[in-house]
Amino acid sequence: MTAKENPERDDVDDMDETAAAAELARLAGEIAEHDRHYHQDDAPAISDADYDRLRRRNDALEARFPSLVRPDSPSRRVGSAPSGKFSKVTHAVAMLSLGNAFEDGDVKDFIDRIRRFLGLGDDEKVAMTAEPKIDGLSASLRYEGGKLVVGATRGDGQVGENITDNLRTISDVPLRLRGDAWPDVAEIRGEVYMSHADFQTLNDRQEAAGGQVFANPRNAAAGSLRQLDSKITASRPLRFFAYAWGEMSQVPFDTYADGVGMLGSWGFPVNPLFRQCEDVEQMLDVYRDIESRRSSLGYDIDGVVYKVDRLDWQRRLGFVSRSPRWAIAHKFPAEKASTILRDIEIQVGRTGQLTPVAKLEPVTVGGVVVSNATLHNEDEIARKDVRIGDTVIVQRAGDVIPQVVRAIEEKRPAGAQAYVFPEICPACGSHAVREVNPKTGKADVARRCTGGLICPAQAVERLKHFVSRNALDIEGFGAKQAEAFYLDGLVMQPADIFTLAVRDARSEKPLREREGWGETSAKNLFEAVDSRRNVSLDRFIFGLGIRHVGETTARLLARTYGSMEAFVAVLETAQDRSSETYAELLGIDGIGEVVAEAMIEFFSEPHNRKVVEDLLAEVSPEPLEAADTASPVAGKTVVFTGSLERMTRNEAKARAEGLGAKVSGSVSAKTDILVAGPGAGSKLKKAQELDVEVLSEDDWLELVGDG
Ligand code: IVH
Repeated sequence: MTAKENPERDDVDDMDETAAAAELARLAGEIAEHDRHYHQDDAPAISDADYDRLRRRNDALEARFPSLVRPDSPSRRVGSAPSGKFSKVTHAVAMLSLGNAFEDGDVKDFIDRIRRFLGLGDDEKVAMTAEPKIDGLSASLRYEGGKLVVGATRGDGQVGENITDNLRTISDVPLRLRGDAWPDVAEIRGEVYMSHADFQTLNDRQEAAGGQVFANPRNAAAGSLRQLDSKITASRPLRFFAYAWGEMSQVPFDTYADGVGMLGSWGFPVNPLFRQCEDVEQMLDVYRDIESRRSSLGYDIDGVVYKVDRLDWQRRLGFVSRSPRWAIAHKFPAEKASTILRDIEIQVGRTGQLTPVAKLEPVTVGGVVVSNATLHNEDEIARKDVRIGDTVIVQRAGDVIPQVVRAIEEKRPAGAQAYVFPEICPACGSHAVREVNPKTGKADVARRCTGGLICPAQAVERLKHFVSRNALDIEGFGAKQAEAFYLDGLVMQPADIFTLAVRDARSEKPLREREGWGETSAKNLFEAVDSRRNVSLDRFIFGLGIRHVGETTARLLARTYGSMEAFVAVLETAQDRSSETYAELLGIDGIGEVVAEAMIEFFSEPHNRKVVEDLLAEVSPEPLEAADTASPVAGKTVVFTGSLERMTRNEAKARAEGLGAKVSGSVSAKTDILVAGPGAGSKLKKAQELDVEVLSEDDWLELVGDG
């Protein structure tokens, strides 16, 4: 390169040491400022070319005057301090996950469930599609007027991260849709993945450069996609397959198969192994065919996804919890490997359950290094007679925790002793017992620590659960931080999270001075905590970690009671099992005795009430928006009785709940609507006595707009 083509060097050769030092100081400041604009504010102030020119000028000066390299020189920094943040994107239509099928019988059951839900006759066919389940990361691409405007990760399904700049760098992702037959708003979803060959090349390159080496293509794809600097993403060989959509201003097709064809015509790669199937036999044939090609595809897949082809049926089938009723993932069999069981560690869960964890000689199973696996419980260890020192078979399927399948007895070392499960909690020394189920008279499979509130392991696990992704989901405050803060005595119970900033301001050893923290990260953490003071009620209830109250139940409770105060009041009154309130609690469709008892037990414990009270002094959970507040049945309590002719009972219930109604199994003074079909008996009578509105199935469908 001549000096002419390289203007940033023009005067470098003429500079003396004093001028060079001043220029290097200026460049360090200027480049740092541009880095900040670029990384932290997402708003570069100069073009990439101009920025590179500044960097090259800095490099040239340093090459000439090596003794002048500054400690804060841009050349010494690997990029700039990332802001640690992507902005959030609320998905207009939630991004869901899929239920799993492991055996042929599960696929048959899936189709039977669909038939029952839709109330199909025996001779009516359910047209299905089958395609590979790509092992990557899902992403949603929003197009407006045919132009890519926003790209996001799945996140928790409702809210993802804005990674538009990164997704734009993937050559499989069209920046403009082809043709003109696309709707004005089109959110296209699919999987970002990396091919085996590209993964190998990337890892070789990373290794040579002393960079991060990835365990498998999925991790490499994830690591590449979550770069705050999209230039890094651009240098990574990512690919994309489209297989779904979210919001669409208009859906110009009636079947999924036609939809896939259209996605292809708009410029998206769609998987070439996509097939249509008429029955379970054909679905299983496609499954076996795809499985036989798995090793030669050149990218990782972990199963086959089946979807109902008719979109009107998909709409009727709807969702249960986070998965559609109209699709399922048929997983490939788990991959297995053998290794040595070094030790058995007992972990104590948030409800005190003791779980044995196998500590293994690290072994690669299906591309991932496994060094821990679950042994489930005491009975499983005894049944499998797994002993420390044994060579064991370990298996791993999809996202599930690796498991110890069995011990290879022939390889057992002499003198290996049968494992004796502890009857004392390893964390607090309290007795660990197996409760006897009063109904069956059988001992529970789980042994539980009786230490309750004094057990530090339970306290830490409760905290971890409280901040977990589907609960409070505080950015930068995960399991690791919960544990560290607990051990430091800074956060002993959930409310402490919200008083941390105030206490920190007065502390002699503030967070920013602690190892691993700095001014910015501490500030970001306190901001992230503050931003969750209005968390939604369902997440709050789920976060309390009440036994048997999972996400779905928490959502149901949040919908039913609308506020924490109302919920707590009900559980206090329901302690009297003969009360009307207790009967009503059990009347909620989806709340059985086990759940009701667990909730009452939780709130009858003064410490738990105090935990909730303290939390409510800091946090104001927000009521859930009714699923569809525009609906005339939102917030109403509905009971279905008698036989329904135009929809199945399950379908009716799901639809009503989708519109924000509560569906109850029994009629009471709180019932707003009884939908009575032919053959309605005592419930109809009771509704008439209580003056509850009674509708026929047709009236109901008319009311909800399905008439
Ligand atoms: S359909 C509403 N199709 O699997 C259903 N998902 O476990 C939307 N995935 O989050 C998903 N390949 O990341 C669908 N051909 C495929 C897929 C696929 C991979 C992933 C996707 C999703 C996860 C669900």
